[in-house]
Amino acid sequence: MNKKIGIIAGSLRKESFSKKIAAEVVNMAPAGFDFEIISIADLPLYNQDFDDEGNVPQAYTVFRDKMATIEGVIFITPEYNRSVPGVLKNAIDVGSRPYGKSIWSRKPAAIFSNSPSNLSAFGANHHLRQSLVFLDMPIMQQPEVYIAKVSDCFDENGNLSESKTRDFLQVAVIAYLELFTKVIGK
Ligand code: FNR
Repeated sequence: MNKKIGIIAGSLRKESFSKKIAAEVVNMAPAGFDFEIISIADLPLYNQDFDDEGNVPQAYTVFRDKMATIEGVIFITPEYNRSVPGVLKNAIDVGSRPYGKSIWSRKPAAIFSNSPSNLSAFGANHHLRQSLVFLDMPIMQQPEVYIAKVSDCFDENGNLSESKTRDFLQVAVIAYLELFTKVIGK
């Protein structure tokens, strides 16, 4: 059976570059793998009372059930104020609870950060890494994926027209799947 990898973009914006990268990456799955974009758009802000009082929003259940079927995750994140956008951090928090039932544990992960600026969301990349280490996700170390000047990579139709970036993403996907296979097996 094909291994299932989730692709999560850390932006809700219609024209989000992170979502456009996710749309490219989802088509890069080699034989033996299914890539699927997982939406985090409908998740209410995490409130521990929901879990403690057994009053969990339907959107949490949908997200947690979907993630239970996913064996690895590629995060594609922009940077907000030198950190992870709140919407992505919220999804991570929702998936991490209730205590002892985290949907992230032991799932291999990769982080692809991007920014229209030169700094390529380094801050968000490493803040996200910090959370994923705590969540016990084996994370791809190399190549590190920082996409700078992301606004120059797409044409007017939203296609990734910059071939070097496309090639690099493909290399990174393959490296990630090597890590995935080492951790999870075939
Ligand atoms: C930004 N942006 C930004 N960019 C960056 O490189 N470092 C940063 O710290 C920030 N901070 C920041 C805060 C907030 C609240 C917004 C709305 C934006 C700019 C950001 O990189 C740009 O809007 C991207 O296009 C957002 O990613 P998506 O939506 O294109 O995926």
